Amino acid sequence: MAATMTIHMSLLFTILAVISSLLAVESGDTNHIYWPCSDTTVQRSDGFTFAIAFASRTAFFFNNNNSLQLSPCDSRLALSNQGSQISVFRPKVDEISLLTINTSSFSPDNYGGYMVAFAGRKYAARSLPAFVANSTYTVTSFTLVLEFKKGRLQNLYWKRDGCAKCTGNNNFVCLNNQDCAIRTSNCKNHGGSVDCSLGIQLAFSGTDKHFAVLNSWYEVENLRQYSLFGLYANLRDSLTSQYSKIF
Ligand SMILES: *[C@@H]1O[C@H](CO)[C@@H](O)[C@H](O)[C@H]1NC(C)=O
Ligand SMILES: *[C@@H]1O[C@H](CO)[C@@H](O)[C@H](O)[C@H]1NC(C)=O
Ligand SMILES: *[C@@H]1O[C@H](CO)[C@@H](O)[C@H](O)[C@H]1NC(C)=O
Repeated sequence: MAATMTIHMSLLFTILAVISSLLAVESGDTNHIYWPCSDTTVQRSDGFTFAIAFASRTAFFFNNNNSLQLSPCDSRLALSNQGSQISVFRPKVDEISLLTINTSSFSPDNYGGYMVAFAGRKYAARSLPAFVANSTYTVTSFTLVLEFKKGRLQNLYWKRDGCAKCTGNNNFVCLNNQDCAIRTSNCKNHGGSVDCSLGIQLAFSGTDKHFAVLNSWYEVENLRQYSLFGLYANLRDSLTSQYSKIF
């Protein structure tokens, strides 16, 4: 299961030190790297630590013309000076998981409104910045693919399904033909009635360090038609059915 929290970057180091000493070594987890800005190689059934940073889009770029995107682990970005927020997760490799970031006391639009998923140092990988929220729109549902090669993280990318889930639903707006968004004013953290917590569907692809194929991505592709949220009974009510009830 994933450990989630939203914290200030400067607290990250202390907290991770505590986590790694508290986490009972889960059966089958041979990966002892808990710090997202470290390199590791994994095998199926290992835990894998990565993080998501929230900041403005431009904060993830090093140069003025926004062409050089660095990993949030790269101190040249100085994200912590810009009030960036970080969530740390440790899912199991090759297990389909739904990560959630509870937004009841955290409004992504107050922290720049974009997020980047990242892990690694020498072999730093980071996703492109994904739009989460501004004062008008909030996107709550994401799919993140972690691609490994011989057990080393190569790439993280946001997989979009072109608004398939919200077409024809007046409560949603399709942004840039890729994201289903609701109005931020409907979110609880802005006085509305919808819990706009973020749900991040995770999938793994590529190979582990023993060249075993990671195929949870294949399962996600096939499950999508049945609505992945349906798999998570405890989250279904808080994250999805609320839309049909409330509007
Ligand atoms: C952006 O800046 C980099 C150097 O930081 C430069 O190499 C590149 O040509 C610039 N690109 C554009 C489109 O101006
Ligand atoms: C977020 O936290 C609030 C307060 O603890 C809780 O009422 C709400 O159900 C949580 N939302 C999710 C999706 O877990
Ligand atoms: C919010 O984001 C949407 C989609 O990117 C954009 O069209 C809109 O202008 C933004 N609104 C504000 C107030 O920034």
